Amino acid sequence: MEQYHHHYYSSLYLNLLLLFLSLISLAVATIFYKHKSQYHRHVNLPPGRRGLPYVGETLDFLSTGWKGRPENFVLDRVREFSSNVFKTHIVGKPTAVLSGAEGNKFVFTNENKLFVAWWPDSVNKIFPFTETSSVAEESRRMRRLLPQFMKPEALQRYVGVMDDVARRHFASSWEGRDAVEVFPLAKNYTFWVACRLFLSLDDPERIAEFVVPFKDVATGIFGLPLDLPFTAFRRAIRASTYIREEFLTGIIRQRKSELADGKNADVAKTQDILSFMLMATDDNGERMSERDIADKILGLLIGGHDTASSTCSFVVKFLSEFPRIYDRVYEEQMQIARCKAATGEMLNWEDIQKMKYSWNVACEVLRLVPPLQGTFREATTDFVFNGFSIPKGWKLCVYMQLYWSVPSTHKTEKYFPEPEKFDPSRFEGRGPAPYTFVPFGGGPRMCPGKEYARLEILVFMHNLVKRFKFEKLIPDEKIVVNPIAVPANGLPVRLFPHNA
Ligand SMILES: *[C@@H]1O[C@H](CO)[C@@H](O)[C@H](O)[C@H]1NC(C)=O
Repeated sequence: MEQYHHHYYSSLYLNLLLLFLSLISLAVATIFYKHKSQYHRHVNLPPGRRGLPYVGETLDFLSTGWKGRPENFVLDRVREFSSNVFKTHIVGKPTAVLSGAEGNKFVFTNENKLFVAWWPDSVNKIFPFTETSSVAEESRRMRRLLPQFMKPEALQRYVGVMDDVARRHFASSWEGRDAVEVFPLAKNYTFWVACRLFLSLDDPERIAEFVVPFKDVATGIFGLPLDLPFTAFRRAIRASTYIREEFLTGIIRQRKSELADGKNADVAKTQDILSFMLMATDDNGERMSERDIADKILGLLIGGHDTASSTCSFVVKFLSEFPRIYDRVYEEQMQIARCKAATGEMLNWEDIQKMKYSWNVACEVLRLVPPLQGTFREATTDFVFNGFSIPKGWKLCVYMQLYWSVPSTHKTEKYFPEPEKFDPSRFEGRGPAPYTFVPFGGGPRMCPGKEYARLEILVFMHNLVKRFKFEKLIPDEKIVVNPIAVPANGLPVRLFPHNA
């Protein structure tokens, strides 16, 4: 009996095991088949590899970024396949990567006809917009409203406010020190500017309240979308909820009641972006809801913060490497500073227009180290690019946000002689050929914050070179991309104040 039982159970186990194994292999086969069929329904797909099921070439893709050479993912394949479009499988979806000026032009001119904006699921989860609308839909609405707040005319009056924040930032974090770590300070500056311009938040302690949850959101968006306890992703969802539903909603309600009472005589406050949003109406004459506003302000903060601080930091890096270029920027900025010194006035719009050489330097920084690598689209119909068919539903990976087609344009010999050389004079005269320099994207989806970023970076450069020369403490510090380009060690520099 004992033995019988033993035998009975062991064969039961064996059968169960076999059943289990065959289920697994069935599942694996299905996955492989699905993975394969995503590619084989169509003839003449672009060249490329699809990698492993599900994972595809994602690890390859991420690791070139971690190694600080994100453009290699694209360049290696462009070289291998001799094509400016190749297929791959990243972010869990079949993807066509377009690169080069032809790719940029194609995307900028066919926006919303052949494809629409698309975000990885992680972004949709961290920004859970109202059930009926998606991130893509929200983004379209946002684009109709944003120009009102972000157009150059509206931003002109903010130059003085940016300068005021920059002065206080340099006084509290740079002056009196022998050495600083640039990247964290650049983030302090851009975050402070954003809090001040969007919300009239100016009290460092109040701002500090939401620095931590804000960091959690930014980390989660750019990390792996694993919604499990204790992951960065789960933390980001929680932080995003806190910022929108408590922190920002509190500020919005308070402002609303102030505006309603009409007792808020503070002109600066009524001119910030929050007040603009509260008073703006859309095409149907409707005002934005509190929730909408909170979502949009968080979106603006995310979009503008890490990117601008990346560029401010790399400006410091390149200026320290090229003393002659530093000297020219210094001359240009001191001419402006000398005029201001007598009166103690803040920088204004006219001053910004005089910073031509400085802006060329910033553009050269953006060319060599674009903070964002590219963005995603989703094909809404089958179409043909360069003789290759791209099926409906595929993701496209293109310019500017997250992924790597920009650097491959920027560093292609054909468009930029000696592409690795830091040379701001490329931007003199007529500048680079159309569709070759696109750190802000182009066409209908051009970055709405371009002008804002330009002002913020130039005001930073003015306040920086006016006070210091500097020297890198880690001569060959690497750049890592995860996925925003940042200095691997935060860019520590020694400071040499001019007035010492
Ligand atoms: C910026 O730095 C100042 C001085 O260290 C600090 O008080 C403030 O909280 C920081 N702000 C942000 C946004 O990190």
